[in-house]
Amino acid sequence: MDSGHLSRRDYLKLMGASAAVINSELSMPVLAESREVQADRVRRMQWWHEATFGMFIHWGLYSVVGRHEWVMENEAIPVAEYEQFAGRFVPKPNAARDWARLAKAAGMKYMVMTSKHHEGFCLFNTKTTNYCATKQAAGRDLVREYVDAVRAEGLRVGLYYSLMDWHHPDGARCETDEAARKRFVTYIHEHIREILSNYGKIDILWYDVPWPLEAPGWESERMNEMVFKLQPDIIVNNRNKLPGDFSTPEQRIQAEDSGRAWESCMTMNDSWGYHAADDAWKTPKQIIRNLISCSRDGGNYLLNIGPKPDGSIPEESQRILSEVGSWMKSNSMSVIGADRCQPRRSNYSSFTRRGNTLYAHVHFWPGETVVIGGLLTRVKSASLLESGKKVDFVQDKFRVRLTGLPKQAPSHPVTTIAIECESEPTQDQYFIRKERDRREA
Ligand code: GLC
Repeated sequence: MDSGHLSRRDYLKLMGASAAVINSELSMPVLAESREVQADRVRRMQWWHEATFGMFIHWGLYSVVGRHEWVMENEAIPVAEYEQFAGRFVPKPNAARDWARLAKAAGMKYMVMTSKHHEGFCLFNTKTTNYCATKQAAGRDLVREYVDAVRAEGLRVGLYYSLMDWHHPDGARCETDEAARKRFVTYIHEHIREILSNYGKIDILWYDVPWPLEAPGWESERMNEMVFKLQPDIIVNNRNKLPGDFSTPEQRIQAEDSGRAWESCMTMNDSWGYHAADDAWKTPKQIIRNLISCSRDGGNYLLNIGPKPDGSIPEESQRILSEVGSWMKSNSMSVIGADRCQPRRSNYSSFTRRGNTLYAHVHFWPGETVVIGGLLTRVKSASLLESGKKVDFVQDKFRVRLTGLPKQAPSHPVTTIAIECESEPTQDQYFIRKERDRREA
């Protein structure tokens, strides 16, 4: 199946018609779902497909340490020593408001925050343990503050939850000790029940790392049943060893062939949690290009910030996201909720599509003429998206040449040219290779 030709809406419909889904992340075929289950997924997922761009937030005791969220494991820090960081995790009140404002200004439509990462510290109030923000130095429910802040900006609310737990005494031995597994699974299920019962409507549950159990050990079917009972509109990812509603390629952009929903999650440097010395920042241009690639292939882009322990956003992340935001002000309609787009060949542009309009996103500006080879559709008109200025063009059966453009790129860091076509734009490179008589003018 060539899903490149499908619009978001079409492939939603198609998902409803497919008999079986192969989950490439888990590489396991999943049995056919009933029509009702499929139709319900289409209903629940609609806003998410339209949303396209979200903010991921990794925040916890590792933020105090400032050396990546895996520091407890990778430096083999004993539990008692690590627990001390709970005494130093005292964020400023309502830090999440700044995250939500920044996310909104960057054109993002939803947020997903770590309610508990692998370290085991709960940012929410729980009856199950004292190892949570309300009962330690912070003395506040940080999930509550987050949820309120996200809603105040009109964004959708997601919660990340790690099944793997390095703090709980049964977190590793549950693999071989049945009594430990039972206790641990009760503990985990109870957390999920709490985060989905105490904060109103939650839009996404983002499971992470199911080590060391498989789906039967986690009782994942029962877990998801509880989730949907508590939150009938929620969507869940595939990291509790069940396929869930969407796949989660990490640090890479890779569309699902089957038309299944996918979301690429990515850091802005090389760490999810705050890492003071990690200076491997992506440029705003790289981030915009990544968002364009996700949008072109019908996926979502979940871009991470790792706030400092006081909740402030690292300056570099702020700078990058503000620049993304300025670009999004006039370009957002070309990427958010766009349709899947088949054209992809160019050495200086990438493409997205909305209906019959092709958006050429020129990231390496070639000068006065921008050319697209192999476009099979007739162009009706072209304009610069940011200024609305008309662009002249000449088209023959092999190429369309957009002419009279400025010598220097008119927009930064990427210039978008909106090209209105007679029908859905498609591109065929082999046609040029085979048919073009190179001696012809
Ligand atoms: C990985 C990492 C984790 C991070 C997550 C985000 O599974 O273990 O630190 O939270 O990916 O996708």
